[in-house]
Amino acid sequence: MQDFELGFTSVAKEQEPIRAEISGRLPDWLRGTLIRNGPAQWNAGVDRMRHWFDGFAMLHAFTLDESGVSYRSRFLRGPDWCAVQADGKLRHPQFATDPCRSFFKKVASLFVNELGCNPNVNVVKLGKRWLALTETPLAIEFDRQTLQTLGVFDYDQDSFHRQITSAHPVFDQGVMHNFLVQLGRETRYTGYRMPPGGSREAFAHYLSKTPGYLHSCSMTSREMLLWEGPFTVNPLQLLWRNRPYIENFRWRPELGSRLVRLGRDGRSEAFELPPLFVFHHVNAFYEGSCLCVDVLAYQDARSVQQLYLDDLLGPSDEPVDTPELIRVRVEKGKAQMETLSKTPVELPRISEAQGQPYRVVYGITRRESRFYEGLVRLDTHTDTAQFWSEAGCFAGEPVPQVSPDGLEKVLLSVVLDSTCGQSFLLVLDGETMSERARCYVPAVVPFGFHGGFASEG
Ligand code: CO
Repeated sequence: MQDFELGFTSVAKEQEPIRAEISGRLPDWLRGTLIRNGPAQWNAGVDRMRHWFDGFAMLHAFTLDESGVSYRSRFLRGPDWCAVQADGKLRHPQFATDPCRSFFKKVASLFVNELGCNPNVNVVKLGKRWLALTETPLAIEFDRQTLQTLGVFDYDQDSFHRQITSAHPVFDQGVMHNFLVQLGRETRYTGYRMPPGGSREAFAHYLSKTPGYLHSCSMTSREMLLWEGPFTVNPLQLLWRNRPYIENFRWRPELGSRLVRLGRDGRSEAFELPPLFVFHHVNAFYEGSCLCVDVLAYQDARSVQQLYLDDLLGPSDEPVDTPELIRVRVEKGKAQMETLSKTPVELPRISEAQGQPYRVVYGITRRESRFYEGLVRLDTHTDTAQFWSEAGCFAGEPVPQVSPDGLEKVLLSVVLDSTCGQSFLLVLDGETMSERARCYVPAVVPFGFHGGFASEG
């Protein structure tokens, strides 16, 4: 058994608000709720989810107020979760798991773009509304206080076809920016903006002959950037092949990568780069006239395979593949790439707004374990790293928070302590990575992906 197996174990029940046991001292100014999203249930009636990314979404909230810290959790009542509760069957294909059903029904569902709706990747705030997101186009709105599902958020059923999207929109002064992928003979990437209460409005398109798996983007005041690696799919095969969604993608390094630039003025272009696989952009910004785009890059897409539950929890002692921080500099129509650091970092967060110059990236890292276990603070100017880790503990995405006077910075991360079978909210000093406080809850928070901090009351 792997010591991180508990992090991939289905949660049996939702947790009503419960007090955390605090050790150390929390900053007085740190008030609000850390909301985490991630898979927490890999049983789907007669079907079993095969991949980490497929588990049913659960929201977890750690609320910090005058009286201390409390924790609660709730499954998202998305259409797929509700279907399994109702009749014990998965109705829609997931990332790497297909329901048990006939080939012809499967093809029919793909023709109407009816991929599943289980938004287990991220949460964002659009105006006053909180949304849970994944890579299929429907989001789910939830109540920030109770975590109750409010319903499917269908972008006001605007004119965009239901397509593939990203769970990593970028906000610019409250306006959400994201992209859609419409697979076809020529695949179209569309960058769009959406103000709170408004509808989506495209600002640029790019046509691709070799669509890549796209997970996130970065953005400056002038453009949105996509990394199209050669983990690619033939859209027609996606329709006709009898295999789950992601298993239609193939690693084809001979195609190289493209940095796709969707100009916010409507112009788009692409730059050829070496074949690398990317889940997460860190940031994009300008140094004078030079556009810098920082991403976490893998040598290939093997990590997608490594994150199947049978592979993760099997007898292998092969560590999960980790990416490196690379920078692409675009100037005078040419793109050049350099490695900024070989320190493993994933689920990256910065405390600056997207598009602004930055120096420090925070993330999870892997050192001794097979799976990500620690946290890292990486200084991109000096390529020096500071770490937090503890035996038997596995940390999730670190969320930076800066004090209202701008003088203090902390990192919030939900850590699973496999030695006692409980999770805790860890608060680190954002400069030194030393521990300020930890707050144990009598619950296991399975390994999730992304989250956000709601600082309002
Ligand atoms: Co992500």
